[in-house]
Amino acid sequence: MIDTHCHLDRELYKDVDTVIKHMGENTMIAAGVDYKSSIHVLELIKDNPTIYGVIGFHPEEIEHYTEDFLAFLEENLENPKIVGIGEIGLDYHYTKETRDKQIEVFKKQLDLASKYNKTVVIHSRDALEDTLQIIKDYPNLKMVLHCFGYSLEVAQMLLKYAIKFGIGGVVTFKNSKKLKEVVKEIPIDRFLLETDSPYLTPEPHRGEENEPYNIIYVADTIGALKGISKEEVLRLTTENAIRQFDLPL
Ligand code: NI
Repeated sequence: MIDTHCHLDRELYKDVDTVIKHMGENTMIAAGVDYKSSIHVLELIKDNPTIYGVIGFHPEEIEHYTEDFLAFLEENLENPKIVGIGEIGLDYHYTKETRDKQIEVFKKQLDLASKYNKTVVIHSRDALEDTLQIIKDYPNLKMVLHCFGYSLEVAQMLLKYAIKFGIGGVVTFKNSKKLKEVVKEIPIDRFLLETDSPYLTPEPHRGEENEPYNIIYVADTIGALKGISKEEVLRLTTENAIRQFDLPL
């Protein structure tokens, strides 16, 4: 199994080494959100054969963005274990006032992904219109909408793009009616499993620190919604992830 999106910065966990060990031979894709965490991702992938990385600048960190980040990003895209640019995007939930800057930095990172044919891992919250407006200019870009939170109608409309939907712990929550509908109706070849650890812990561990191993609960819920076994969900979504990120597995 593959956790296609987690944050493994040491300071986010009580004990990150145990969390990584718990995954055994299974693969993780660690995501950066700013300069510091992207450097940490580069260290992690060097030290751990089972960890790959995506690096990028997250919209909620935008006030710390400096122009030299782009050169750093471009330099490290040649690293074979950097399998994409992320987590990048737009977030107007708490930080609408930085909208213009978010859009500018998002587009610059999309341009780099286009140039190097890398997958982008997109965070989009309360910013649907601008996200759609921007991605339509990149019709061939390989995209993952991380922690997909929009409606089934939006998901269906997005199927025309080379887009995958990251599905995580939220699908296990009792009140996640909208996402459950998306999982039921959208073909499983569009889904990637993710935990977004240490955030968004799935049931039955909600409230505790999340970890990549909890991907099994996400697979369990998706299986129940699709009428297939957890093992089948893990097998199919692992294949999806290998293809999406060109993982040498
Ligand atoms: Ni994330």
